Amino acid sequence: MKAKHILVVGAGSVGKRHMKNFVSLGSTVSAVDPRYDRLEEASKDIPLKHSFETIESALEDSREFDGVAICSPTAFHVSQSEAALKAGLPVLLEKPVAPTLVEAQRLQETLKRNKGKLLLGYTYRWWPPFVEFRKRLQSGEIGTIRYVEFMMGAHLADWHPWERYQEFFMSSKELGGGALLDESHFLDLLVWLFGMPKSLFARVEKISNLEIETDDNVDILVDYANGMRVSLHLDLYRRPHERYIRAVGDGGSIEWSVEPNRVRVAIDAEQKWDEKAFPQERNYMFLAVAKEFLAIIDGSTEPSCTIDDGVKVMQLVEISRKSSKKRKSFNV
Ligand SMILES: NC(=O)c1ccc[n+]([C@@H]2O[C@H](COP(=O)([O-])OP(=O)(O)OC[C@H]3O[C@@H](n4cnc5c(N)ncnc54)[C@H](O)[C@@H]3O)[C@@H](O)[C@H]2O)c1
Repeated sequence: MKAKHILVVGAGSVGKRHMKNFVSLGSTVSAVDPRYDRLEEASKDIPLKHSFETIESALEDSREFDGVAICSPTAFHVSQSEAALKAGLPVLLEKPVAPTLVEAQRLQETLKRNKGKLLLGYTYRWWPPFVEFRKRLQSGEIGTIRYVEFMMGAHLADWHPWERYQEFFMSSKELGGGALLDESHFLDLLVWLFGMPKSLFARVEKISNLEIETDDNVDILVDYANGMRVSLHLDLYRRPHERYIRAVGDGGSIEWSVEPNRVRVAIDAEQKWDEKAFPQERNYMFLAVAKEFLAIIDGSTEPSCTIDDGVKVMQLVEISRKSSKKRKSFNV
């Protein structure tokens, strides 16, 4: 594979992670960030070929680059992806696609029109314990699944200890923060595991004392056509942090969790769990995404997580917002 030059847009937490990973895979990287301090900080750890304040200035000579990774706050995802696609460059887009369904659908159209390539970064899809959980769930090991609980909660002040959470984009409605949008990883996993549901009822609220203007508590009751019920909870105020999915079938329960990093199964009435622990560090999934993106640029593979997947998540986000506002359940 020829060495690639990747333009990383947004030199914050995930942008720097991607830059380091691309460099470790033999690529050259350049960065875009309107904050000079962020570019300076990145350049201390990472050899940056060029630094730019805007994506427009970077793309003035787009032939320099082989691909663009969009790692800016969610509000900029669509316009920046469109700029890269119009320049003929493949895009790695961090999740979620956009703050609204309409914007996500606009990007879907642009992508089709341009016949471009876009890999969407719902990164848990590349996480070995989750992949094992999905495989075992689908193998029928615990029989017909009746109920699934999705839980994702982490106190926002712990996400970026180097900055005040009030200044992090997650606190801002305009920039596309909030639990529903940003923890939409679990909506993506819901659809990846079980497909689109029949209907849902949601509450999307701000209930904690966090000083933010976005939602910090989401509860969604999801119904599937086959009678399976899902309860999905997301929050931004939880300590200790918890991320897990537990499925209950006629023949027992199977659970995947991040804290601790494992998959476990129980088939009896007692708490006798058969556990499998996993050694991977969190960066594993980001490295796997970077490898897939480089292979897409090379033309040796197609995106495994697509704009269509991201639009499905945004359909669920939009219906959840509507349900919460109207206090009633809606068909999907
Ligand atoms: N896949 C994952 O697990 C994962 C993990 C973390 C973040 N993310 C996603 O990545 C995105 C960024 O999150 P983060 O935690 O790195 O945020 P961050 O605030 O740490 O970084 C965002 C950076 O973008 C810069 N920025 C602001 N406006 C910009 C613009 N117009 N153009 C270019 N850069 C701009 C900011 O100055 C900041 O440095 C979000 O969409 C988030 O949901 C995904």
